[in-house]
Amino acid sequence: MEDREPEQSRQSRCPGMSYSDLLDLDSREVPAFLRKESQRDMGTAPLSTERYTSPDFMALENEKMWPNVWQFAAREEDFLNPGDHVVYENAGRSYVLVRQDDGDIRAFHNVCLHRGRKLRTKSGFAKELKCPFHGFSWRNDGTLKHIPCQWDFEHLDHDAMALPQLRVERWQGFVMVSENTDIASFSEWAGDALAHFERWRLDECYTVAWIGRVIPANWKATAEAFMEAWHTVATHPQIMGFTGDANTRYDLYGDHVNRAITPSAVLSPHIADKHDQQYILDTLQAFATQGDDDGGPRRKPGARFSDADSQSQTQDDGDPVMARKVTAEANRQMFGEQSGNDFSTVSDSEMTDNFTYNIFPNFAPWGGFIPNIVYRWRPHRDPDHCLMEVRILMRGKPGEPKPKAPPMHLIGEDKPFASASHLIGAGLATVFDQDMANLPYVQEGMKASANRKLELGQYQESRIRHFHETLDKYLQS
Ligand code: FES
Ligand SMILES: [Fe+2]
Repeated sequence: MEDREPEQSRQSRCPGMSYSDLLDLDSREVPAFLRKESQRDMGTAPLSTERYTSPDFMALENEKMWPNVWQFAAREEDFLNPGDHVVYENAGRSYVLVRQDDGDIRAFHNVCLHRGRKLRTKSGFAKELKCPFHGFSWRNDGTLKHIPCQWDFEHLDHDAMALPQLRVERWQGFVMVSENTDIASFSEWAGDALAHFERWRLDECYTVAWIGRVIPANWKATAEAFMEAWHTVATHPQIMGFTGDANTRYDLYGDHVNRAITPSAVLSPHIADKHDQQYILDTLQAFATQGDDDGGPRRKPGARFSDADSQSQTQDDGDPVMARKVTAEANRQMFGEQSGNDFSTVSDSEMTDNFTYNIFPNFAPWGGFIPNIVYRWRPHRDPDHCLMEVRILMRGKPGEPKPKAPPMHLIGEDKPFASASHLIGAGLATVFDQDMANLPYVQEGMKASANRKLELGQYQESRIRHFHETLDKYLQS
């Protein structure tokens, strides 16, 4: 892994102000891990469309990759009390995570050891894990409790009939599981970049909104639509007034983590010479308040920007980052008040920008101090579909218990994300619907492709190459 200084990598970047330039103009001290670039040459080879369309490739992922990685299975606030459990299913497997009497979490294969019925089909509460078919039951710690007609099962050893367990680790409020009992600890497996989150403390946050939708596209194609920001110019033109799409920084860490940092409250380089700082504040304001007249609460949980009046009152035409400073300050005040935190020393960047980390293979927690998005993508039914989930995390007041997470709001396959605007805000829902307007046709196009190749940008799509390089390591092992 090569860590290059910003100056060395400038030539292969979008002209204009870089992310490092923006950090130099920050009104506060910026953490070193935001400044440091971590890029390496990922080559220029095309990707095969079959990786996204072939049932055989999907079968290989299910066999070689999914059982051997750490997966984000739940948030702590999904199951707070003893006996609460979460059913997490992926890639043909079913797991049940159970909160223990002492607050610990155990995860089991969610399959009856008699004749194989799934033990639980939904998340919820139960005093024991009892199979509805013939009534075999297990205690919540996984030990066998009861076999009906025991006289007919004298050949079974009760200790050996404990439910098989998964590895469980807790990180920043996320509950990670792995089938592979030999896998390195989550922090060792994911590497040093995980430490960035120690500053942002997502364990002090809790889920305020959780939506899911089945997307008619492969899980990787869908995830990759969120791995680069430069499709903004063609797909999301309404956010160019306050999004540094082509100024996004991409960093690669080891095998399992990468990140994009997309600056907000700056003009897209595509329109940088056409507008002033006030235009940024105006377009950001319009985005932040979009849909406020829909009869629901004025501030939606997904809102990442304050709509404080101060945004339209401050003018300093000489300052090239006036809009960032005003936005950051408004966010410091609003989110500081909301969460009882003092953000006065926190950088403009961390109060404004989009830190989208991806943890291999399908988990994307955002960093920073404003409400954070968390994505998860899972294969669904066949290579042509996936389940995409979006959570919004808000910071809780220090010392106060976290409220239980709302259940996932599953949007019908025939419905737009806009139908969940009341949960995530109209601005964000519009962005997702714009992405969804591409994805079905990406999948159809890849299947119709004459050369069966995808050609990637060398820098802006480096995270996609990084992901596939790691995927290949699993598939070839
Ligand atoms: S399959 Fe579970 S008790 Fe028979
Ligand atoms: Fe997008």
